[in-house]
Amino acid sequence: MKKINLKKRPIICLTSYSKFFAEIADEYCDIVLVGDSLGMVYYGDPSTRSVSLNDMIRHAKSVRSGVKKAIMVVDMPYRTYSNPTLAKKNALRIMRETKCDAVKLEGGKEISHIIKHLIKNRINVMGHIGLLPQKVRSKKDYKIKGINAVEKNKIINDLKCIQESGVFSIVLEAVKNHTAKEVMKFSKIPIIGIGASKECDGQILVLEDMLGMFKKVPKFVKKYSNLRSYIKKAVKQYSKDIRDKKFPTKRNVY
Ligand code: KIV
Repeated sequence: MKKINLKKRPIICLTSYSKFFAEIADEYCDIVLVGDSLGMVYYGDPSTRSVSLNDMIRHAKSVRSGVKKAIMVVDMPYRTYSNPTLAKKNALRIMRETKCDAVKLEGGKEISHIIKHLIKNRINVMGHIGLLPQKVRSKKDYKIKGINAVEKNKIINDLKCIQESGVFSIVLEAVKNHTAKEVMKFSKIPIIGIGASKECDGQILVLEDMLGMFKKVPKFVKKYSNLRSYIKKAVKQYSKDIRDKKFPTKRNVY
């Protein structure tokens, strides 16, 4: 079990599903997450629930070949950790086949016994609380959390439970700013925000979201590029060149 050391602040994290993007993320990030957002971002599914263990392992192997220095975390897909025995079997398979440093599980108090079991078996675990994408069936059901005292107390309780179980870090997703700030007061381990407060110890975004590959993104995404329009422009020019007999040229043939 690799000892995970996250002393540096802020902790910079991004997702990756393949070697090409992982190599770039690895240069600038402390954590590279092979997220099960893979299902929605890469395969165009309505939720993350359709992602299989085989999908995650295939992509994580590709990411592994691009990550040399960052901590590499792999999401355990929906229904692959419903009980301690199943979770251990699947987590060990992910660790063995992808050589990742840790796995990430979504949930709070209700899965703290599963997290404990994995850690007892020398598997590093990252937690994920607040909005839990695996509980959501379609994009329209994404709703921010921590909007009232009941929700805030639930998130704080979830944090305490999984922190106690031994996770090395926790992703806090889509919670009200004031709730996230309150949650931070109870944290003893690094909290990585996505649509949470800038007070978090670190931040994570889905790489394709911040690159501007999608027309619609959640409010918490800042687009650092507009890759969609660059790709569109290039593809349009390519099709025009072929139609106008400008491609291939002498330089492109043997
Ligand atoms: O699956 C994923 O990409 C994630 C991040 C949004 C944190 O869990």
